[in-house]
Amino acid sequence: MTAQKLLEEIAGIGRSPATGGYRRFAWTREDSDLREWFRGQAEARGLTVTEDRVGNQWAWWGDPDARGPGVVTGSHLDSVPDGGNFDGPLGVVSALLAVEELRREGFTPARPIGVANFVDEEGARFGVACGGSRVLTGALSRERALALTDADGVSMAEALSRAGRDPGAIGPDPETLARIGTFVELHVEQGRYLADTAAPVAVASSIWPHGRWRFDFPGEANHAGTTRFEDRNDPALKLAALILQAREVARELGCVATVGKMRVLPNGVNAIPSEATGWVDGRGPDEDAVRRLVPLLEEAIGTGAVVESFTPSTEFDPVLAGELSGLLGGAPIIGTGAGHDAGVLAANGVSSAMLFVRNPTGVSHSPAEHAEPDDCEAGVAALATVLRSLAAR
Ligand code: GLV
Ligand code: MN
Ligand code: MN
Repeated sequence: MTAQKLLEEIAGIGRSPATGGYRRFAWTREDSDLREWFRGQAEARGLTVTEDRVGNQWAWWGDPDARGPGVVTGSHLDSVPDGGNFDGPLGVVSALLAVEELRREGFTPARPIGVANFVDEEGARFGVACGGSRVLTGALSRERALALTDADGVSMAEALSRAGRDPGAIGPDPETLARIGTFVELHVEQGRYLADTAAPVAVASSIWPHGRWRFDFPGEANHAGTTRFEDRNDPALKLAALILQAREVARELGCVATVGKMRVLPNGVNAIPSEATGWVDGRGPDEDAVRRLVPLLEEAIGTGAVVESFTPSTEFDPVLAGELSGLLGGAPIIGTGAGHDAGVLAANGVSSAMLFVRNPTGVSHSPAEHAEPDDCEAGVAALATVLRSLAAR
């Protein structure tokens, strides 16, 4: 079995025929199909599947309570709107295949090995990134998580109920966390560093600080033809200013900022909007600069923002990163601007690391995201090497 073949097994789940992109959002039908698939694949490889209080799935080779803590690998299966089939799934399939390889060769782990499928990593439905790992660690309170709403006003509590789950059960899960001695997430690279090198795999050093903020602009609905400019209160103008200013202010601070999600109500071609909302995603190498971004933006456009999430910069354990690089023949050690569950775990005291697999275009969060089959196999082999070493002690 290859990573490409396993990815093809889920290629039909949540794929939009119109765009070729994936829409795999937390606690939807697609999510449930992916969870079912994960369970089947893990059980077919002799792993025992459990779920934590949040709904993250854990497939164990060995008993983490009797012989733990274990070495855990894995990633997520959800997507951004119209995302690709690699961001998340490559880490899950590589984890399953690396474990399969270790079993095939007769490796006897000295401690249990787990494969994780984190729920709601992208935060595409409820707005907060890495919801599964944040609730698990207590970084996101259960009260706040359950009250988050999607674009249709459905709360996470309601979505959980509709998915047949008990919203009252979710919350921090120290027992599950205690089972993770080391976490290693493999991920498609979201950039072009490796594309220009001979190396198919890199090790992560750090993750940029990252914030998501929401700007609400109230306006006054009216007729697009009969209302004079001077009589209008058109909130789309504020939204336009936000989009332009976000780029300007971020550039001055040495950050990046994006308004990739916006809502205009009622969204009628011949109506002045009654309301507009823009979401700013801001990141950069310098945490102080990222923290200054939105106050400056608020001042520039004269409107206050609501913080939806803020993740400080994350440094992965440099000793572990150096060790993995050495195990992989001197793999490059690189930083990233993308967020990951491994970062949330690292920030909450779990020894964590990441492997990145070369992406020839560097594109991600798009149907164009890609990794060549040979590089995917190199990723599986690298992960097997890492697990073989970490689980032998
Ligand atoms: C997740 O991929 C993020 O970086 O937003
Ligand atoms: Mn992503
Ligand atoms: Mn991801």
